Amino acid sequence: MSETTLVLIKPGGVQRNLIGEITRRIEARGLKVAGLKLIVADRATVEEHYSEHRERPFFKDVCDYLTSGPIVAMAVSGTNAVKAIRTMMGATNPLEATPGTVRGDFALTIDDNLTHSSSDPEAAARELGLWFSEGLPS
Ligand code: CDP
Ligand code: MG
Repeated sequence: MSETTLVLIKPGGVQRNLIGEITRRIEARGLKVAGLKLIVADRATVEEHYSEHRERPFFKDVCDYLTSGPIVAMAVSGTNAVKAIRTMMGATNPLEATPGTVRGDFALTIDDNLTHSSSDPEAAARELGLWFSEGLPS
């Protein structure tokens, strides 16, 4: 089933010049970039994005990090895009991420794990509405 999901390339990924590599992998898989922008996120957007983690001990740090520099927000469409992208990005802790995944190939620590991707179709719809409130180009 065709789906659209959200990918964020976090500040570390942008700083390390991994925008091209990550986007290349997504396109090579056969998925379509349906929306793309380089932005500095405002705190309110990031706190809303991570609202499920509001009570977790890492909430402040992850929000500080996400607002610390430019990020890429990307909408990605294709068959089973939500699961396909999650699998390509790898486990949250890069030490547990399989080689061949973005985190397994390019990251070492959980606080700098390079990307966000929506966990399920409901989260994708919510997150796309937040990061692409203007809608996607058609
Ligand atoms: O990003 P993902 O959906 O794989 O993981 P999450 O459990 O939804 O956590 C969101 C983000 O919070 C992670 O990607 C990490 O950047 C950060 N985090 C952390 O710094 N320390 C933890 N123990 C768990 C998550
Ligand atoms: Mg998550």
